Amino acid sequence: MSGVVRRRLGVRHLAVACVLATGLAGCAQNSPSTLDAAGAGARRVEGLWWLLFWVSVVGVLEVFALLGWALWRRRREVPVRAGDATAFVGVLGVGLPFIVLVAVYGVGLRDLNALVRPPAEPELSIEVIGHRWWWEVRYPDVAGAVTANEIHIPVDRSVRVRLTTADVQHSFWVPQLMPKTDLIAGKVNQTWLHAERAGTFRGLCAEYCGLQHATMSLMVVAQPEGEFTTWLRDLANPPSGELTEQQLRGRAAFEAAACGACHTARGTTATGTIGPDLTTIGARWSIGAGAAPNDEGHLGGWVVNPQNLKPGNQMPPQPVPASDLPDLLSYLQTLR
Ligand code: CUA
Repeated sequence: MSGVVRRRLGVRHLAVACVLATGLAGCAQNSPSTLDAAGAGARRVEGLWWLLFWVSVVGVLEVFALLGWALWRRRREVPVRAGDATAFVGVLGVGLPFIVLVAVYGVGLRDLNALVRPPAEPELSIEVIGHRWWWEVRYPDVAGAVTANEIHIPVDRSVRVRLTTADVQHSFWVPQLMPKTDLIAGKVNQTWLHAERAGTFRGLCAEYCGLQHATMSLMVVAQPEGEFTTWLRDLANPPSGELTEQQLRGRAAFEAAACGACHTARGTTATGTIGPDLTTIGARWSIGAGAAPNDEGHLGGWVVNPQNLKPGNQMPPQPVPASDLPDLLSYLQTLR
């Protein structure tokens, strides 16, 4: 191999290593990783992941050690006796892998079985309904408690989650809390969540469901019991704060526009059920299920033409008069 070729290969390998390192560094920063488990379910998956990882590491090391040994024997011209090779392949090529694979399969079955039951009997149930491309979230025990793309749960409590879909198949996955469960048309699937610490944990759709499959995120907010109870109460009965004159004009514009045909905002005349519930839109972590940050600029862009931020979604552009838009946005941000 010439020096030039060797140098080129070196640069190429360096580039690949850089891409891998950047990817891994990206993974480590605030991403939904099973390897940063915050719940009993994800912890099992994390344990299984590390078991498989170390078994693989030992397997690779063993192969390289045997390769080295074979080369060493060849160089020394150590004669191979009849029967040696058969015994060698029988033990290390068939017997050992069989034992390891059966053991790992057994551990996998044990974990799969354990994942059926939450650590404690759930006292709280949540209904999650998949839509293209957002998540409807209902608390059936509390009348009117409906939101979207955000699930609040109390810390250190097991919560039952019932999963259905309004259209195609989706899959509910909160990597730091629980492995995937599919949402299948005509079927109710169940899973559970149990967060061991307070925090926000990103969830995503893990089943390809169309154009905006990658923009179908949700956030699970685990909070202390008292905070959660207050949040749930306010969700069902939003406190009506004082509105400024601009916000009152915005509210009138909201009720005059077509918003209420598809959206509900409790405390207003908007009672549509096609799109996400807007009762707490002002406090949500994003707009469009992760399509954009929830600030005035993006919200304005979304209202005027949602197809720019999330092409293919069900919401058509809204002909809101430019003079009404600042009032409308100011009002929408009070919904929290
Ligand atoms: Cu919903 Cu992918």
